[in-house]
Amino acid sequence: MDLLKDLQWRYATKAYTDKKVSGEKLDFILEAINLTASSCGLQPYRVFAIENKEIRAKLGEGSFNKQITQASHLLVFAAYNNVTTEHIEKLIKLVAKNRGVAEADLKDLFTKLDGYFNSRSVESNRHWSDKQAYIALGTALIAAANVKVDATPMEGFDPAVFDELLGLKDKDLHTTVILSLGFRDETADFLAAAPKVRIPVHEMVTMI
Ligand SMILES: Cc1cc2nc3c(=O)[nH]c(=O)nc-3n(C[C@H](O)[C@H](O)[C@H](O)COP(=O)(O)O)c2cc1C
Repeated sequence: MDLLKDLQWRYATKAYTDKKVSGEKLDFILEAINLTASSCGLQPYRVFAIENKEIRAKLGEGSFNKQITQASHLLVFAAYNNVTTEHIEKLIKLVAKNRGVAEADLKDLFTKLDGYFNSRSVESNRHWSDKQAYIALGTALIAAANVKVDATPMEGFDPAVFDELLGLKDKDLHTTVILSLGFRDETADFLAAAPKVRIPVHEMVTMI
């Protein structure tokens, strides 16, 4: 029930104060992101947590989202450009290590996953990776609300600028979506006091 209160409390913040998010709360949100479910457990994205204001000012140049610079931190969700054999090998090694299983016993899993991702186009694998990153965005939004940190999910930015400034091409990543973190400026943000706008649950949900 408390979770529903957190979700009522949160909103896509438009104006932030100068207050910084503590390391403890930031770590909590990042840990929650890392615990996000992902298809095949591949976690096909990386997260950049940016506090540096000069870098954020450059990233936000030309964007209508002033939250990019104004907030305390910016999280950049950057998905894989493709899913490769190397990624599958890395996952298999991690499963073997964390579950105390021999890598040889995971050969079938490796063959299945490697065959699947190799049979698809680079574009499909990239799109699939983007979708996984969006799930992590959802977790981040919930985690932030849970520790009373305000947040704004954003697609209003120039991905080419982000990719260039963060050197993502060299890492075989691309910017998918971003999330600012900080604390709402209630006097400057008319949305801080605005009621939520949602369709009724019965319209959203069909019980069968
Ligand atoms: C993927 C995604 C992209 C969004 N992009 C922006 C954005 O660029 N700028 C912005 O101010 N809000 C952005 N929003 C916020 C939505 O407008 C907001 O979540 C929606 O209106 C519902 O309101 P609430 O989150 O305040 O409850 C985005 C939300 C999502 C989920």
